Amino acid sequence: MTVVALVPAAGQGTRLGLNRPKAFVTLQGRSLLERAVDGLFASGVIDEVVVMVPADLVDGARALVPRARVVVGGVERTDTVRAGLAAVGDAELVLVHDAARPLTPGPVIERVVAALRAGASAVVPVLPVVDTIKRVDADGAVAATVDRADLRAVQTPQGFTTAALRAAYDAAPGAVATDDAGLVERAGGAVVTVAGDPLAMKITTAFDLRVAEALAQELK
Ligand code: CTP
Ligand code: MG
Repeated sequence: MTVVALVPAAGQGTRLGLNRPKAFVTLQGRSLLERAVDGLFASGVIDEVVVMVPADLVDGARALVPRARVVVGGVERTDTVRAGLAAVGDAELVLVHDAARPLTPGPVIERVVAALRAGASAVVPVLPVVDTIKRVDADGAVAATVDRADLRAVQTPQGFTTAALRAAYDAAPGAVATDDAGLVERAGGAVVTVAGDPLAMKITTAFDLRVAEALAQELK
């Protein structure tokens, strides 16, 4: 079964605040986009990579990641993934992996693909939640403490049979979701979990970038 990885890299990086699309920000001299794409190929379990970028950065992305196919993303992440899905062709399995998780270790990618090969139609890598989580009301007053034992923080790559992901996106034409498995859940599909890794952290804020810089330096 052929495995295609889609890499959403068309976000603006507003919360990072560097005034350029986050995937093109560098970490120890290499862009998040290059790191994410190289990590996928280095895992040895991905046949093809498609990256989705802002329209004005298509040529720039082609120069950075020559082994990947480059297509234009959309306004919302959901639009971006939809654009990538249209480029998947007849590959049986598809991974969706944020460019914003540039340090994701190969074994996480391997575990996701292995679960798909074992028969799952949707797979997410997860970590236990370490903080105590409370629900608050509109004024910020605590309404409840949530039992964290059955909570998980979800990472990428998320893996799917192409059929399941296409069906989920087709079932929710206008949907905006924070992850792809969420659309599969909404469509009634089962989603299984595999172990994630703290190194698969998402770079969202300037603080995250500082942490990732230190980790990248150490991993060099
Ligand atoms: N993404 C995308 N297309 C969008 C929005 C997001 O491809 N329209 C991608 C980002 O490039 C990133 C991933 O989805 O790799 C996760 O999104 P997020 O962390 O929210 O990144 P940004 O949208 O770039 O950041 P912000 O929300 O702070 O602007
Ligand atoms: Mg965003």
